[in-house]
Amino acid sequence: MLRTHTCGELRIQHQNQIVTLCGWVQKSRDLGGMTFIDLRDRYGITQLAFNMETNAVLCEQARKCGREFVLQVTGKVIERSSKNTNLPTGEIEIEVTSLTILNTANTPPFTIEEQTDGGDDLRMKYRYLDLRRASVRANLQLRHQMAQQTRLYLDGKDFIEVETPVLIKSTPEGARDFVVPSRMNPGEFYALPQSPQTFKQLLMVSGFDRYYQVVKCFRDEDLRADRQPEFTQIDCEMSFVEQEDVLNTFEGLVKHLFKQVKGIDITELPRMTYADAMKYYGSDKPDTRFDMKFVELNAVVKGKNFKVFDDAALVVGICAKGCAEYTRKQLDELTDFVKRPQIGATGLVYARINGDGSIKSSVDKFYDETALKEWAAAFNAEPGDLLLILAGEATKTRKALNELRLEMGARLGLRDKNTFSCLWVVDFPLLEFNEDENRYFAMHHPFTAPKPEDVKLLDNFDTLGNVRANAYDMVINGVEVGGGSVRIYDKTMQARMFEILGFTKEEAQHQFGFLMNAFEFGAPPHAGIAFGFDRLCSLFGGADSIRDFIAFPKNNSGRDMMIDAPSTIDVKQLKELSIELKS
Ligand code: AMO
Repeated sequence: MLRTHTCGELRIQHQNQIVTLCGWVQKSRDLGGMTFIDLRDRYGITQLAFNMETNAVLCEQARKCGREFVLQVTGKVIERSSKNTNLPTGEIEIEVTSLTILNTANTPPFTIEEQTDGGDDLRMKYRYLDLRRASVRANLQLRHQMAQQTRLYLDGKDFIEVETPVLIKSTPEGARDFVVPSRMNPGEFYALPQSPQTFKQLLMVSGFDRYYQVVKCFRDEDLRADRQPEFTQIDCEMSFVEQEDVLNTFEGLVKHLFKQVKGIDITELPRMTYADAMKYYGSDKPDTRFDMKFVELNAVVKGKNFKVFDDAALVVGICAKGCAEYTRKQLDELTDFVKRPQIGATGLVYARINGDGSIKSSVDKFYDETALKEWAAAFNAEPGDLLLILAGEATKTRKALNELRLEMGARLGLRDKNTFSCLWVVDFPLLEFNEDENRYFAMHHPFTAPKPEDVKLLDNFDTLGNVRANAYDMVINGVEVGGGSVRIYDKTMQARMFEILGFTKEEAQHQFGFLMNAFEFGAPPHAGIAFGFDRLCSLFGGADSIRDFIAFPKNNSGRDMMIDAPSTIDVKQLKELSIELKS
C-alpha cells in the first residue's frame, strides 16, 4: 500500500503517529511562514502543514503543487491550533516530513467543490472530475448500498441472480429498440433488450422458480429527468404465485431498503385501484404525500346557464387548504399555468371561502351564494380554503387537474423530499386504445394476463377496453418506481392476446414462436415485477434527476458528452456490416 491511512480517517486520538497519506490537492494556502494543503480522497479531507522555518525545501516544493496534483505525504499527526469543526478531521493536521508528487495535473476546467462553477455540459464532458465531488460520489455510494441490500434481501428469499443476453431479438415494451447489425449475418440485426421479460419467463419454464437480475435495459425513447436510454432494473420473476404473493414479497424489499439504507420504517403500503387513482388524482402515479383529492362537480354545477360547465363532459376541482387569500396575481399565474399548451386547459374557475364563511367565485354571474355553498359542501371546504375547478373533456381535464394539483402541492410545501409515501396501484386495464393507429395496445406488455373474471370481455371488441389485468405498479412520491404483472402461461391465451394486438398468426410465430413453443413444455403459473433502479436511487437520494445517480449518464439528446457517442464509424466498418449509407 502506498498509504497507511485515508484522508478521512485521522482524529485527535492519532496524535503523534507517523502516517502516510495519498490524495489530490483540493486547495493550498500560502501564508508566507506556513503553507497548508487540503489533501482529498474518497474518504475525506486532511490538512497538511508545511513550515518554512523548519523545512524550507519541502515548503517550496509544496507551494508548487497545483490543484488536483496527486501527492503522497508522510508526517506526524499533530493537534491543530485553529480547529475546523465542519470537518471530521478538523482537529488535526499532518506536519509533513516528506512529499512525493505522484502526478501533476492541469488546472481543472471547473472547481471540484460542492458549489462548483461548472455548467452541466462541462461537468458531463469531464465527468471523471465531476465524480471527484463529494455529493456526486455520495450518490454512487448510495447506489452501491442499494444494490447490496437488494441482493441481500432477494438472496435471503431464495432468488437466484441469472444473467440474460444483451444481443437479442426485439421484445416490445412500448419503446423503440436500439439495434446492432450482425457482421456474420448480413442484413440482420440484434436488438438490445428493453427488458429481459421473455428470458425471465423462459427461466420460469426451466424451473428456476425465483429469478432476479440487476440488469441494464435499453429503450430508444424521448428523454426526461426520470428516463435514460440505458437504465438499470431490479428485474424479478417468481413461479407458483399469485399477485398477492408478488406484492407481499416486494413490499418486503421496499421496506427492507428504506430500513437499511435510510433508517425509515415504512409501516403502510396501501393499495389503490387504477380506476380510483384516475378518479381521485387524474394520474396512475399519484403523489400521495398530500391529500387534495379531486371532487367531481357535474351534479352541483350544471343547469345554471354557464356554458363552459354545461357543455363539459366533466367539471372537477381541488380544494387548496388555506389559500383563500391568494391575490389576483397568484390566481392569474395559476390560470396561465393550466392554459400552457403542455397542460391544455381552456381556463380556471375559482371560488374563495372567506374567513366569515361568505364565498366569492370567478363566476358569480351564474352562481349565487346558495349555489356556491353547495360547491363548498361538495369539497368539505372550510373558511380560508380556495376551490380550483377545471372543465372539459374528461380524460384531458383530469390530466390537467393532476398537473395543477402537483403545482399546488409544491407551492404549499407538501412535496417534501424527505417524506416518503409508497403505494401499489393495482388492476390496470389490460389494453389501451390508440386513436392514431386505431387499435389496441397492451398497457403493460403482451405477456400480462387478464383478470380471470374479465376474460369473457375479450370476446367482444366493444368491451376490450374494460378488461382489467393482474398488473401493478409501485409508486413512491408520484414516481413510478416499478411495475409488473401476473403472466399468461397458456399458449392459446398468448396466441389470442397477439391476435387482439393485431399480430397475424405468422407474425406472432415469427416474433414470439420461441415463447409459445416453450409454453407447450410445461410452463408454470408465474408473475413478476421490475423496479427502475436509477429512479429508486434518486428518490432515496432526494434528487429530481436519475442522471445524478448514474456514473456516466447520457444528456437529454442521448449523447455521452465525455466519449462523444454516438459517433460516425469508418466506411470499412460499415462495409463489413453490409451497411450502405445513402448520401
Ligand atoms: P416497465 O416497462 O414498467 O416494466 O419498467 C419497469 C420500471 O423500469 C423503470 N423505467 C425506466 N427508468 C429509467 N429510464 C427509462 N427509460 C425507464 N423505463 C422504465 C420504471 C419502470 O417502472 N418487463 C416489465 C416488468 C415486468 O413486467 O416484470 C418492464 O420492463 O421505474
